[in-house]
Amino acid sequence: MQMNTYLPVADAATAAEVLGIPEEQLIKLDANENPYGPSPLVREALAQPLPYHLYPDAMQRRARAALAEYTGIPAEQIILGNGSDELIDLLLLALVKPGDDVLVPVPTFGVYLSRPPLFGAAVQSVARNEDFDLDIPKILSAIRPTTRLIFLASPNNPTGNPVTRHQLEQLLKTGIFVVADEAYYEFAGQTFAPLLQEYDNLGILRTFSKWAGLAGLRIGYGLFPRWLADRLWTIKQPFNVSVPALRAVEAALADRAIQFQTVIQLRLERGRLYRKLRTIPYLKPYPSHGNFILCRVTVGDAHAVHAWLAQHGILVRKYDDPLLRDCLRISVGLPEHTDQIIAVLQSYQPEANG
Ligand SMILES: Cc1ncc(COP(=O)(O)O)c(C=O)c1O
Repeated sequence: MQMNTYLPVADAATAAEVLGIPEEQLIKLDANENPYGPSPLVREALAQPLPYHLYPDAMQRRARAALAEYTGIPAEQIILGNGSDELIDLLLLALVKPGDDVLVPVPTFGVYLSRPPLFGAAVQSVARNEDFDLDIPKILSAIRPTTRLIFLASPNNPTGNPVTRHQLEQLLKTGIFVVADEAYYEFAGQTFAPLLQEYDNLGILRTFSKWAGLAGLRIGYGLFPRWLADRLWTIKQPFNVSVPALRAVEAALADRAIQFQTVIQLRLERGRLYRKLRTIPYLKPYPSHGNFILCRVTVGDAHAVHAWLAQHGILVRKYDDPLLRDCLRISVGLPEHTDQIIAVLQSYQPEANG
């Protein structure tokens, strides 16, 4: 079954079944999840009996108040979604109509490409330069009267590089609505949230899937100008974020000093993984501000390397997109995951195996 043109990675149980290995032996480095999982307070909150028989707060009041404190952005400008994926759809529903264009610098997160057509909009892909940096002159010249929306991830998934404030402001000055997706903000430490005071055509997306170790609960949020937040409230499904998810937001933010320890661990591990990947003769890793590292396979076939890793119980992300066909994205995991993937990569011989 093909759900849409964006193919998500398989869940752990399915992957283990396909590979014929026990789930607990799988090393899952294919979806930028946090292997440490959520903080102690979140675990505790979710272990309590929660009012599952009642609908959640459609206005998300307590979670938004906690997020206002965390982000420094007023609660009226914050909306939570069932993952930031849902907010991408809500933005498209609010901002585009059939015949419009959505501009996307590629390569990037596949959801920006797969969703606009479902809302009648066409995707204008604009290639990034060789280092995957934004090509601002090319983007500016690609803009048409029908261009409604620009999607940028900073740092970008899967390439790991951030957008600069100057680049973002050049795009904001066109007046077109720009979505800055900060899914990996906590790993990068750079945010454009202060620009919300200056531009009313900027939206920022964030998620609890990565830093907070809560990908399975599906919690994203957006920071929006007031006019857009008002419009999004009128179109969002009332109960889009569940009782446990809202509870987890409060607990994760209250416990963030503890959870940030895992972010610090992963940032350190990112450096170690990068240095080790550089010693693999057939790989070229790109520097990353996220919890993942993109590698170009310079000798042999990336899909063959993917298969070799999978045979050894290690899952990484491969691509069919021609721009990334010779690349693999490796999520940063536990120190022992780094050691194991490096050992398996060292045992691979591109000429013989690929
Ligand atoms: C750039 C980017 N945006 C959004 C998401 C989706 O996040 P969520 O789990 O909150 O839907 C991801 C997930 O990989 C991502 O990489």
